[in-house]
Amino acid sequence: MAEPIDVVITGAAGQIAYSLLYQIAAGTVFGPQQPVNLRLLDIPPMMKVLDGVVMELEDLALPLLREVLPTAEPAKAFNNVAAAFLVGAMPRKEGMERKDLLAANVEIFKVQGEALDKYARKDVKVLVVGNPANTNALICSHYAPSIPKENFTAMTRLDQNRAQAALATRLNVQVDQVKNVIIWGNHSSTQYPDAAHATVTLSSGVKAVSSEINDDEWLNNIFVTMIQKRGAAVIAARKMSSAMSAAKAAGDHMRDWWFGTKPGEWVSMGVVSDGSYGIPKDIVFSFPVTIKDKRYEIVQNLPINDSAKSKLDITSKELEEERTEANNVLKK
Ligand code: NAI
Repeated sequence: MAEPIDVVITGAAGQIAYSLLYQIAAGTVFGPQQPVNLRLLDIPPMMKVLDGVVMELEDLALPLLREVLPTAEPAKAFNNVAAAFLVGAMPRKEGMERKDLLAANVEIFKVQGEALDKYARKDVKVLVVGNPANTNALICSHYAPSIPKENFTAMTRLDQNRAQAALATRLNVQVDQVKNVIIWGNHSSTQYPDAAHATVTLSSGVKAVSSEINDDEWLNNIFVTMIQKRGAAVIAARKMSSAMSAAKAAGDHMRDWWFGTKPGEWVSMGVVSDGSYGIPKDIVFSFPVTIKDKRYEIVQNLPINDSAKSKLDITSKELEEERTEANNVLKK
């Protein structure tokens, strides 16, 4: 069996981590042959809660799970890590402006970027889940200059999974029959869930989702709004944000990065823009990517019509604004 890899999860005492840790320990993410040492980072007031999480991890009695280290010290948490799930972030409190939220998180991701730079493996794969995920990933990479920029990604997989599930429901097929739906842009309500290139496998063969649904109003407006607002709908019903599905999506994202995408399929990930599709460089933007040998490539040359182009512009503009605000905080 392989040597264990060190994996850090921040926000380890929180909701998403509670579901995510089990998947990692059980082998769902890094495979059934890969033992893991878990580094659990949270803030000092959460250390008691984290002790309970550690007890539960022991009680899972899972053979792939080796060492477990609960800590509030980034230097220990990030030491030698091969994969990092950055889930912990400052939540939005009542009366808090979006700007204040961004400011608080910029500080957290600056510290964690510096710790990654100093202590992590240079090939570490970083997945940022904590919001605002795209801009947090950008800041984190900025403060870890010794690690390649392409090793920093932000999670839009939950949005992709939501979109895939919504299309499958509408088509009355099993969810895995639907492929290649895309999430473009920010993990926020400006994201653009795009079914124009999605396919569905039917008994008659592989068909375009758009022609099978054949309802432009639904595809271009109702579906788009439904996915953009799905997170808010879960909060309204559960009084807490998506956690089980977010954890599943984080596992999906990292597993595909580790093992690659299937032939003919792509997944959406927030990655540092290289200017593809006219998106400004140096923002973390969600694109469709294919992955091989732990390296992703942005899918090129998909036709983008005027309506889609204007949606890409809205979400890239928001990301540019977030970057400006983040830079203002960092200059202070
Ligand atoms: P939670 O509030 O249950 O847990 C967050 C944990 O992070 C807490 O234990 C907190 O103490 C910890 N934390 C705060 N600052 C930290 C720091 N500097 N270092 C280490 N840990 C720190 O929140 P939950 O539900 O687990 O969500 C976590 C984040 O994920 C939130 O920012 C949420 O908005 C985001 N999220 C992102 C999604 C995406 O699709 N990208 C989907 C759902 C949630």
